[in-house]
Amino acid sequence: MNKTAHRIYLSLLSIIVLLAFAAIANKGYTYYKLGIEDRFFHADHILLKPSGIWGHGMGIIGSLFMILGVLLYMFRKRYRIFSRIGILKHWLEFHIFLCTLGPVLVLFHTSFKFGGIVAISFWSMVAVFLSGIIGRFIYIQIPRTIEGRELSLNEVRDLAGDISNTLTSTIGLDEESLKIIVNAAKPKAQLQSGNFITRYFNKKAENRKTLATVKAIMDKNNLPKAQRLQVINLVKNEWSLNRRIERLVLMQNLFKYWHVAHLPFALVMLVIMIIHVAVTIVFGYRWIF
Ligand code: HEM
Ligand code: HEM
Repeated sequence: MNKTAHRIYLSLLSIIVLLAFAAIANKGYTYYKLGIEDRFFHADHILLKPSGIWGHGMGIIGSLFMILGVLLYMFRKRYRIFSRIGILKHWLEFHIFLCTLGPVLVLFHTSFKFGGIVAISFWSMVAVFLSGIIGRFIYIQIPRTIEGRELSLNEVRDLAGDISNTLTSTIGLDEESLKIIVNAAKPKAQLQSGNFITRYFNKKAENRKTLATVKAIMDKNNLPKAQRLQVINLVKNEWSLNRRIERLVLMQNLFKYWHVAHLPFALVMLVIMIIHVAVTIVFGYRWIF
């Protein structure tokens, strides 16, 4: 899928969700805003109540969308035989689409009354939906291949140019000066301790010290202005790369914890949904079947 096709794909998915929400809200607005007792007298009560032909249908289709959205993504991600079908990133987008449209339909299925044990399923669905948004935010902070596979730390490092190679090949610094600059630009382990504020100020002080060392070396080597600027930029680039790597490790850890939260909520929702469906079938609700 090229960039334009991908944009059209995403826009289409978003438009479907928005249109579905707007159409159902528009159809049911006068019904949903009524109190429970008054709903009985509304012309659309037969259609829109949770066991009505529309209300019940939205519960069934919404639940199927969520189950399908989870299964398709998990199978594509976990089983090798599916690994050639499409790009994982696009499947995650499809997961988000089905798992957003599904909850929208289930929300209208409940007709905004959340009673009984099935309320636990509803609020788990809300929790898994909200945690999904947070997970998506963390997910995009982690560098990946085009297919959506996480890059390892070494792969991220390889993406950046090698500072010492550039210093020797284009600037032509001697071995001794090169070593001092490369060491000065390296991340310092002792700066990782302390709280956020002390770490910030220690880093600022350390960076000032590093720049002073680098400038002294450049003075010693009598570098012209253009090359001095190039060296300073290289060192600043190295700092920015180090910051990104630090954030990458933090995001990878956060994402591991996030998985531990997202999955159980999905399971609670599913288990109580199954009990809820079984109970309604026992009570004789069969929808169109
Ligand atoms: C996560 C999915 C689901 C959630 C969160 C959910 C939630 C709810 C809620 C909150 C109600 C209203 C309870 C009340 O009146 O106090 C309800 C009613 C109902 N649901 Fe669901 N539901 C889900 C899926 C389903 C599915 C898949 C079916 C059918 C196969 C279904 C069938 C029904 C029926 C028939 C009623 C009406 C029961 C009655 O009026 O006594 N629901 N549901
Ligand atoms: C009720 C709705 C949802 C359910 C039941 C659900 C369920 C799941 C499940 C079971 C997984 C697989 C977890 C694993 O592999 O360990 C998953 C992954 C994920 N979901 Fe959802 N999800 C829902 C909605 C969303 C939403 C709305 C978003 C984003 C806006 C989202 C974003 C993600 C992300 C980023 C992943 C991780 C992908 C990965 O690590 O490869 N989910 N979801």
